Amino acid sequence: MIETNYLVIGSGIAGLTFSVKIAEKFPNRSIVIVTKANEDESNTKYAQGGVAVVLDAEKDSFKKHIEDTLIAGDGLCDTEVVKMVIEEGPKRLEELMLWGANFDLDASGEFDLGKEGGHSEYRVVHHKDITGYEIERALLKRAHQLPNITILPHHFVIDLVTNHHIIDDTSKNISCYGAYVFDQKTDQIFTIKANSTLLASGGIGCVYGHTTNPIIATGDGIAMAYRAKAKIKDMEFVQFHPTALYEAKGESSFLISEAVRGFGAYLRNKKGYRFMPDYDERAELASRDIVSQSIDSELKKSGEPHVYLDCTHLDMDAFKKHFPNIYNKCLEHHINIETDWIPVVPASHYLCGGIEVDKNGSTTINNLFACGECTRTGLHGANRLASNSLLEALVYAHNIFKFHSEHDYQAPNVLIPDWDDEGTVIPKEHILVQHNLKQMQALMRDYVGIVRSNKRLKRAIKHLDLIENEVEELYKESKISTSLCELRNMINVSQLIVEQSLKRKENKGGYFNIDNVKD
Ligand code: SIN
Repeated sequence: MIETNYLVIGSGIAGLTFSVKIAEKFPNRSIVIVTKANEDESNTKYAQGGVAVVLDAEKDSFKKHIEDTLIAGDGLCDTEVVKMVIEEGPKRLEELMLWGANFDLDASGEFDLGKEGGHSEYRVVHHKDITGYEIERALLKRAHQLPNITILPHHFVIDLVTNHHIIDDTSKNISCYGAYVFDQKTDQIFTIKANSTLLASGGIGCVYGHTTNPIIATGDGIAMAYRAKAKIKDMEFVQFHPTALYEAKGESSFLISEAVRGFGAYLRNKKGYRFMPDYDERAELASRDIVSQSIDSELKKSGEPHVYLDCTHLDMDAFKKHFPNIYNKCLEHHINIETDWIPVVPASHYLCGGIEVDKNGSTTINNLFACGECTRTGLHGANRLASNSLLEALVYAHNIFKFHSEHDYQAPNVLIPDWDDEGTVIPKEHILVQHNLKQMQALMRDYVGIVRSNKRLKRAIKHLDLIENEVEELYKESKISTSLCELRNMINVSQLIVEQSLKRKENKGGYFNIDNVKD
């Protein structure tokens, strides 16, 4: 067993920012960061667009950014939270730069601000088209300089330890005492006992086979928190990014940043018709929910598998400077964007809901905090404004740090039993997990996509329950494996998405159900 002051689950922007801040301020407190892949593998690393921050006081204002966020969120944002996050933005960005993150400047030495869907002004700070990669690099570098931070890569958190694991626990409120952790290299399971635990475990893209997220985005933190009985909210608001690179064979999709549309690219159907102005006066720069739903409608009309993003009219020298990663990735796919249109299709990208937290990142479970994409803070409402998510993670990591600076959590006085896997065996048939995974992803894609209906959702829940029964049976009899635990987590997350979708009786933002359309 390891004992620590702070257990942080996840090594993206949220987990690292909190860890660095607390480690700097309290050199005698220990922080253990557990992450299931390489230490830099996270949704953060793949963020292209950037961080939305108001920096140009002449053209932009907090008021405009707040308004844009509220409009994108379609009436379901928490206005106080929106205000707090946006007004904190510049300070948090400055801190990130002090830790060594670099952002692009223009010829006059000012920030080269980008624009994305739903933004009324240029305000997206970026590092070429690999902003997340740069942030992750800088944060990890700083974390490694701090001796009270220990990072455990290739360690998978199976479950949070809460009262129900503790024999003779009589407390009425649920508390978190740490987690059971699986060392993927040695196959050992051990306990980390923590005074305070932070879930910073990222998103859920992989519940849909077709996603811009890396393969680690399996909703582990949300599923664990749900099993521990934390409140989970707004799961119906899955955001589909309008322009993932279409790959006829592959499932996982490379993102063509929304900043490319901000740079002037057009969406066209197979006939070459630029269709977005027919759907919204902001055309390609309408918010993401509207662009994705419009593409979905074009695809249903034409029966085609994708639409196109046309960059051929753009200044190519500037494009290559701004988007070198996208330019080269397209070339790898034999698409020369100087002459060819890029085939694109919407893909699952971001979850606006998640573990409910207050302004300090507190969940509904004692000693359990959450930060980043796994949370529902109230910032995004029914649809996240582009590039608001890295900002949210920075601001909430700071708030959680501040809260912990004022509240010194003590070691829990409980005896945590070891993980019990008596009677379990190494599963002989890996195909069972693979088959259930494919079934789940297919039904999420076909029944719980951009456009939903009550009939499809009800069918989805029935099938998910059957898959869940099979997987739970396998889980009870098998030695722990990451793939089985991830599948179990994804099923829980899928069930939450479907159940909460069925409860929403009004279409809002990224949620569209044909049965909610009034005649
Ligand atoms: C993008 O670059 O299009 C993604 C930015 C975001 O999801 O906020």
